[in-house]
Amino acid sequence: MRIRPATPADLGALTEIYNHYVVHTPITFDIKPVTLDDRRAWLDAHPATGRYRLLVAEATEGGVLGYASSGPFKSKQAYETSVETSVYLAPDHTGRGLGALLYRALFDALATEDVHRAYAGITQPNVPSMRLHERFGFTPAGLLEQVGRKFDTFWDVAWLEKRLD
Ligand SMILES: CC(C)(COP(=O)(O)OP(=O)(O)OC[C@H]1O[C@@H](n2cnc3c(N)ncnc32)[C@H](O)[C@@H]1OP(=O)(O)O)[C@@H](O)C(=O)NCCC(=O)NCCS
Repeated sequence: MRIRPATPADLGALTEIYNHYVVHTPITFDIKPVTLDDRRAWLDAHPATGRYRLLVAEATEGGVLGYASSGPFKSKQAYETSVETSVYLAPDHTGRGLGALLYRALFDALATEDVHRAYAGITQPNVPSMRLHERFGFTPAGLLEQVGRKFDTFWDVAWLEKRLD
């Protein structure tokens, strides 16, 4: 297994992983599956340098097992030193510590960038994600109660914050 920046050749696999969680879970608040064109724009917004990174874990024999990303937290300029991070594994590769390997690589990459805080919004409940973020030094920044509706249910989102410098 190796971790490397995403390339356009990963688009299909990245879209398939994300859409699994769109269709089957409230983990993301997208409700309709994203298209390859949507994801192409997203991938293009994550170059190999800078604050906004997209790293994939690739199996030795090929195949994308998951990804971690940092993106804009909010669009107004003073927020540019804050990023929102996320990590998604293929559903048959969870529970083996791969999320931590991806996050380690992501935060190592961000260490030399002008990023002051990272934020993660986690739909509740999601014990593995809460544990992973806590292990990486994220601390509670607030709970938004019933902030989203999906599958005819309102969901809480816990926001977590990590200091990077
Ligand atoms: C969240 C995710 C990235 C975590 O990565 P992972 O490689 O599966 O996580 P790990 O195997 O390292 O487990 C993380 C922690 O959760 C714990 N955990 C895992 N499943 C658990 C469960 N069902 N109940 C309780 N604890 C659990 C592990 O013991 C570990 O705890 P530790 O850090 O104290 O050892 C991965 O599960 C995933 O992609 N989930 C679906 C998408 C998602 O939720 N993304 C995050 C969006 S905010």
